[in-house]
Amino acid sequence: MADFTLNINQRSYNVHVSPDTPLLWVLRDAIGLKGTKFGCGKALCGACTVHLDGNAIRSCSLPVSAVKGKIVTIEGLSENGDHPLQEAWKEIDVPQCGYCQVGQIMSAAALLARKPQPSDEDIDTAMSGNICRCGTYPRIKKAIIMAAAKGGAK
Ligand code: FES
Ligand code: FES
Repeated sequence: MADFTLNINQRSYNVHVSPDTPLLWVLRDAIGLKGTKFGCGKALCGACTVHLDGNAIRSCSLPVSAVKGKIVTIEGLSENGDHPLQEAWKEIDVPQCGYCQVGQIMSAAALLARKPQPSDEDIDTAMSGNICRCGTYPRIKKAIIMAAAKGGAK
């Protein structure tokens, strides 16, 4: 076990965990930020996506000891759940079971922050690692296009 100080959603957190603990479990169990989901645990599904210095990363596969930089989770994406993507998600009613959707939004948010007006191909590439068992892909894409049209990144 060791002590780590993490910057998450613009707050500083001290945790005492094993250095090989995946960031996902530090977020969920040590800190109590349960918005980020566990899917495959092997960096294959995208359910656990968070931002590290603005990049979408798989928190299930990053040991806490390797975290260097600022983390943003879905809880910190916007103050009141009003990021343009969250608004578009609601307007289009994207989720079915909902399980994958936090990861989808976090990947999309990293894309729009990097590229506020993404092409179709940009969207497909950025979202290709996020699996949805319910097949909500067409609505996800529509919501990303809608959010981009309304100003994108926030
Ligand atoms: S749980 Fe991390 S990619 Fe699937
Ligand atoms: S909405 Fe069910 S897995 Fe994506």
